[in-house]
Amino acid sequence: MRLDKYLSYALNLTRSEIAIFMKKNDIKVNDIKINKKDFKIDENKDKIEVNGNIITYHRYVYYMLNKPIGLVCSKKGFGNNTIYDLFEDSKYDLSSIGRLDKDTSGLLIITNDGALNHFITSPNNHIDKTYIVNIDDSLNDEEILEFKEGIEINDGDMEKYTTLPCDIKEIDNKKYEVTIHEGKFHQIKRMFAYFKKNVLELKRIKMGDIVLDPNLKEGEYRPLTDDELDYLKSLMK
Ligand code: URA
Repeated sequence: MRLDKYLSYALNLTRSEIAIFMKKNDIKVNDIKINKKDFKIDENKDKIEVNGNIITYHRYVYYMLNKPIGLVCSKKGFGNNTIYDLFEDSKYDLSSIGRLDKDTSGLLIITNDGALNHFITSPNNHIDKTYIVNIDDSLNDEEILEFKEGIEINDGDMEKYTTLPCDIKEIDNKKYEVTIHEGKFHQIKRMFAYFKKNVLELKRIKMGDIVLDPNLKEGEYRPLTDDELDYLKSLMK
């Protein structure tokens, strides 16, 4: 990225302001004084200083959140607390990649990278999602087969929709691990509802190759690792 562009993002200055700013202030990249506006920097590796103060700003940020039950994923919340309350101090305009219901916990990826978000949530590019589901009554073998093959649920606008083949494993009595290859509104709950079963607890543990970090307590988040981010970006290639 160009140095002037980086500084304008980091310091919230316009293009014309940044030109004056760079003339008037001491800017160093990796300890070397730089005046060239179009000097290329690597925002993830280079040390950038303004008057001796290190600037830590990334154009894009990517976090893994272990969503607790009780928070909604919409920005407004409409009277509910939202996942964005957890990022109150952030200077970035964050959005979750896809949503979880208020009473669902687990893995969410949060970013301000709109292009990546748009790509991953577009209906043509859905990545696998794995959930641990506790229900009020177990499925029999025939039902499990039917569940795997695809069942007809009502879509959000109440149109009939047949789910894609998916994977379901019984972990314990009334407890299943389910991987779906799409992401319709309330999909897991509606799939179990088809068999007249109620979902009592729902937790997402995996999105594509990204696994919920067992060290993250509910409500905690951390930056994605380089490998996790490389994986997400590789999906766009
Ligand atoms: N399926 C649901 O029913 N709810 C979620 O939050 C996620 C998947």
